Amino acid sequence: MKRTFEPVSVLVMLALTAIAVGAGLWWHQRSADADNPYAHLGGDFTLTSASGPVSLSDFQGQVVMLYFGFTSCPDVCPTDLARMSAVMSGLTTAEAAQVAGVFVTVDPERDTPERASEYARFFSPYIIGLSGTPQEIEAVARQYYVIYNRIEDAGSALGYTIDHTATTYLIDARGVIRDRLQHDASVDEVRRAVRNLIPG
Ligand code: NI
Repeated sequence: MKRTFEPVSVLVMLALTAIAVGAGLWWHQRSADADNPYAHLGGDFTLTSASGPVSLSDFQGQVVMLYFGFTSCPDVCPTDLARMSAVMSGLTTAEAAQVAGVFVTVDPERDTPERASEYARFFSPYIIGLSGTPQEIEAVARQYYVIYNRIEDAGSALGYTIDHTATTYLIDARGVIRDRLQHDASVDEVRRAVRNLIPG
């Protein structure tokens, strides 16, 4: 016997397929969140730039590269911020509009909001430098599992230096940490990771 599809059963099948695809997408999104090892880290915060308070949530809809360091850092911070700048300048104008860089100082004693902002701007006009009170910085660092330790160095002109985590966090358009890139990641690797998170 030859089987034919009735128009009604075709419609039913299409409806079932739509439901299955919808459920699949929903499940995929759910498991993407469950698979995100950084889901428990991060979150919104408010610190101070040269022109006033800035919150992470101000960047909702944009991918954020977030980095913690200090402006007197001899080599690690300048390298990582130069990489951030190179990542930005390799994006198309449309892509760059959806990406921002944020630098948070872990040396609030020396790095005023003005100094942090000026330092970040030196690397790129698209990187925003933030500072705050020592308590505020400590709270944000704890939120992002960033470790920093003041090392006394009486012999140097700076008096002390700071050992710190050199991680670049990639935060998606919804404010969720999606990736953590180490100091040795190349410009191309970081840019690729950023592009993967650009919405649309
Ligand atoms: Ni540094």
